[in-house]
Order: sequence, then C-alpha cells, then structure tokens
Amino acid sequence: MKTYHLAIIPGDGIGPEVVAQGLKVLDAAGAKFGFKSERQSFDFGGTRYLKTGQVLSDDELNSLKSFDAIYLGAVGHPDVKPGILERGILLKLRFGLDQYINLRPVRLYQNVATPIKNKGPEHIDYVVVRENSGDVYTGEGEIKNKGTTNEIATQVMVYSYAQVERCLKYAFEYVMKRHAVLPWKNLSEEEKKAGFIGKLTLCGKNNVLTNVFGLWDRVMNEMSRQYPKVKIDYFHVDAMCIFLIEAPERFDVIVTTNMFGDIITDLAAVTQGGMGVAPSGNINPVGVSMFEPVHGSAPQFTGKGVANPLAAILTVKLMLEYLKEGKAAQAIDVAVQSVMLKMKSMLIGQMGYTTDQIGDMVVANI
Ligand code: IPM
Ligand code: MN
Repeated sequence: MKTYHLAIIPGDGIGPEVVAQGLKVLDAAGAKFGFKSERQSFDFGGTRYLKTGQVLSDDELNSLKSFDAIYLGAVGHPDVKPGILERGILLKLRFGLDQYINLRPVRLYQNVATPIKNKGPEHIDYVVVRENSGDVYTGEGEIKNKGTTNEIATQVMVYSYAQVERCLKYAFEYVMKRHAVLPWKNLSEEEKKAGFIGKLTLCGKNNVLTNVFGLWDRVMNEMSRQYPKVKIDYFHVDAMCIFLIEAPERFDVIVTTNMFGDIITDLAAVTQGGMGVAPSGNINPVGVSMFEPVHGSAPQFTGKGVANPLAAILTVKLMLEYLKEGKAAQAIDVAVQSVMLKMKSMLIGQMGYTTDQIGDMVVANI
C-alpha cells in the first residue's frame, strides 16, 4: 500500500484541534482509496518557545526535507512578541524549504454565507497564486538612526527575474491544469471564440511600483506566448479589492506578489465564508511542500471545541491533490459539501456542531 511520510506541526491555539480533524479525515480517505500515512509530529510553536526559548533550528528545518509533505495547524501565541514566531518559524519554513508558491483557492460552496449581496457559488471560484519567496518578506532593508527623530526604516520589495519567472510558470501551468478537463465556464463568449480556455490575472501596482511590476509585466507578456490558450489580464491591487467584491466572477487564476497576495487573500477568504473554510498550500514544486489553513491560532478559542475544522480539512484535500490522490481529494470535497449543508454557519462558535463533530461528519460522508 502506498505510504506517505508526513511531518505534522499542530502548532498553537486551535491548531492541534483542527489538525486532529484533518488527520481523521485523511485516515478515512486513505482507508477508502488505498493509501496510508506515517506521521511524525513536531512541537514547533509558541508554547515550546515559551518553555525552551527554541524557535526552529536549521537542523530541525533540514530534517523536514525528507518528508512527502508537511501539514501545519497554526503558529502564534499571545504571549510572544509579534515577529518572533512568524519570522522564526512560519517564514523560516516557507523560505528555508523554498516553498515559492502560496496556493490559495477561493471558492464559495453551497449553503455558505458570503457577505457579498447577490453573489453565490457560481460567482466565486478562483485561485490565488501568491508568490511566496520574495517581496518585503525577505527582510531586506535597514534601520538608520534608531530611536532618534531621524530614524529611517526601510523594508524593500525585492524580486529577481528568476523568482518572477518560476512563479509565473507555475501560474500559467496551473491555469492549463485547471482547465484541461473543463474549459472555464466564466469566460465571455468572445474569449471562448478566440480559443481561450482559462485566464491569468496579474495583480500589481505598475503605476507606482514601476521597477518591480515592470519586471512582472514583461515576464508575463513574454511567457504568455507559450500559452496561447490562456487569456492574460491585469489589475492594480487597489482596483482588485473593488472587483473581488463587485465582480469576483471575472477571476479564474490570479497571480500576485507576496505582500499583495497576503492582503487580498484575507479579503477573498471573507467572501468565501471566512477563515473557517480557507485552505492553503506552500508549494515547492521540486521539494517538500507545506499545507496549512489560512487562519491563525485564535488563542482565545483554544480547547472550546468551537473552531471550524473545515479549513484544515480542505487543506488535507489540497495536500492530497498535490500527492496525486485526486480521487481521495475529490471525495473529501464532496463530503465537506454535504456537511456544510447541515451547518448553521461557518463562523467560529456558530456552527451548530463542535469541532470534533464536524470532523466525524466529514469522515462519515467519506
Ligand atoms: C499568512 C500569514 C503570514 C503571512 C504571517 C503569519 C507571517 O498572514 O499566512 O497569510 O504574512 O504570510
Ligand atoms: Mn495573511
């Protein structure tokens, strides 16, 4: 039987609770579709940091490279100063393992409430490919004259040609894969007639950040010649915030920089029913990838059984797609949808069921 070696990082707050549900679902899908997983758990997170002062050592980071995938709950602790765990654990993992794509599908399912009036599941179904290795996240910059009234702080938006190229390559390929079976239903009639099967929209700010988006624009235009079936499009990030609300049906695959991607995917998550349902994958197409719900550790809700595990469960679905267990991934998706039909809400504490019950219901549906 196919066995996957998985590193599990339950993390802090509600992380362990939702990860437990995800693993229950993973086991059920494995039993049905003929695979299993061997798992090793790692206690990286705020709790360990407060006890031992350790964040994440290079040896620990390297030890993760031998796994087929990493499944992470959430890292973040109210008693730890902002930046320590984010930089020391989460970003160290993403950067250290060169997970240069942050894949964030945005899909509104039936019976899930969206705050957008007059929009339904037929309008909200797109994927954000967030670049995950560059931008202001690299930490490049400095502080001059610290503590004086002449203090100057810089954090630089850095992108190399190679980073832009590999991200766009992934995004174009993703569009092709997404529509290999079913050409995009939301393309306009003209676009379909012109032979397009999918669309890639760059989200940038090329009217101000001319260096960086000059590079992105140029590489995107050059590369698009290799993908004549992919319609390319562009929006400034501010306009993108308008259209993600007013006309989300315009989008198929959006590709964007690290910081803009961070911001627009929180906005997008709200439109798909909130943090309780938003999954993500940090992908290194040639290395080890890490899957995590978009939400944080929500420490005030720890141990109460009120957290929505569906984001973590849909994250398992993403992980299985990545591991090429497409049927199992599909079965999880269908099971999640039928559980959603029974839930009162996707919001924390308002689901009508406990965290554990939702996990059990998904398992029963598989
Ligand atoms: C996310 C988070 C992280 C990010 C933080 C916790 C470092 O907001 O995964 O979106 O900014 O990428
Ligand atoms: Mn974020």
